[in-house]
Amino acid sequence: MKTAFITGINGQDGSYLAELLLSKGYRVVGLVRRLSVPESQTSRLEEAGVYPHDNLCLEYGDLTDQSSLFRILNKYKPEEIYNLGAQSHVRVSFDAPQFTTDVVAMGTLNLLEAIKEVCPDSRMYQAGSSEMFGNSIDKDGFQRETTPMRPVSPYGCAKVYAHNICINYRHSYGMFISNGILFNHESPRRGGSFVTNKIVRGAVNIVTGKSNTLALGNLNAARDWGHSKDYVEAMWMMLQHDHPLDVVCATGKSHTVGEVVDYVFKKLDLCPDQHIVVDPKYFRPEELDCLRGDSTLLRETLGWSPTYTLHTMLDEMIRAAQEKS
Ligand code: NAP
Ligand code: GDD
Repeated sequence: MKTAFITGINGQDGSYLAELLLSKGYRVVGLVRRLSVPESQTSRLEEAGVYPHDNLCLEYGDLTDQSSLFRILNKYKPEEIYNLGAQSHVRVSFDAPQFTTDVVAMGTLNLLEAIKEVCPDSRMYQAGSSEMFGNSIDKDGFQRETTPMRPVSPYGCAKVYAHNICINYRHSYGMFISNGILFNHESPRRGGSFVTNKIVRGAVNIVTGKSNTLALGNLNAARDWGHSKDYVEAMWMMLQHDHPLDVVCATGKSHTVGEVVDYVFKKLDLCPDQHIVVDPKYFRPEELDCLRGDSTLLRETLGWSPTYTLHTMLDEMIRAAQEKS
């Protein structure tokens, strides 16, 4: 039985990845932070139906507390390590830039040092982001592995550091570390302050009479949105390959926030003009205008392809929000 260690296990991706690895017969060890509402520490894992589970062990710790990382790696000596833990909200990273950097950049360095000392033969996946590209776009309108990285947020800057230090440890110490460069991915388990689920839940609340308006920021920003379930499959595939890779994971299709609003509101027989309010408080000090990823390398090297479209994913998110309302 292989052992995998996941930081950020109760996040959106962590919960789908735990599900996937348990279904493949892994023992899964997850890092959780102590929260004042303990039920929240396992909420997504419970929603996924994998907690409690005989092969799932949760350990308290934090990416900024290196002693906890050493303790856990010494205890379990995992073969695979997935570094998903992060302050992952871009807008919040402008409000808490130092904390974001501590977790995303220094947290990754803490983990790399612990792996190097305790289990250097483990394989590590680093959760990189399309936010690392910023507004840098190739002439054909896509971002890919060779596109220069010019991040436009504290979160993006910290992810670039994490990406680069992973490559540095791979080259310096011969460690197996793969950097995923993942474009936006969503699901019914997506946090409610990210724009897709905010739109879906906001629209369902209007239908059920819980509210009458939905305040949003920039409706013109465009993103390449996929489904978390497809993207955690790519993470696992990267660690099964015979050598480490730095690779883009994306659908290749880009839509604006306004298009997502139109689709969701139409599905629920709502008229956006009667409910959407643009509130500048949701604007970012510097905005990333358009993301569209070229994942040819991932498709050709690992045979990955997405099973969801934006619309089938939004349909699933709408159904889940309706069931919960
Ligand atoms: P998420 O839902 O926000 O989950 C983040 C997880 O990280 C949570 O479990 C959180 O724990 C944990 N965490 C936060 N601070 C931590 C710390 N100091 N030490 C240890 N764990 C900490 O994010 P996600 O959507 O699953 O994304 C997973 C990873 O992929 C993140 O690194 C994100 O930056 C990256 N990424 C995401 C996307 C996307 O579109 N979803 C795209 C590219 C890259 P709490 O629950 O206790 O806060
Ligand atoms: N959150 C939010 N809330 N975003 C809004 C809103 C709003 O009310 N209104 C418009 N937007 C716009 C944002 O300005 C942004 O251009 C776009 O919607 C997407 O915002 P988010 O859903 O917050 O995602 P993100 O693109 O900033 O970041 C996500 O994707 C990255 C990968 O590119 C996060 O998951 C990051 O962790 C991830 O790395």
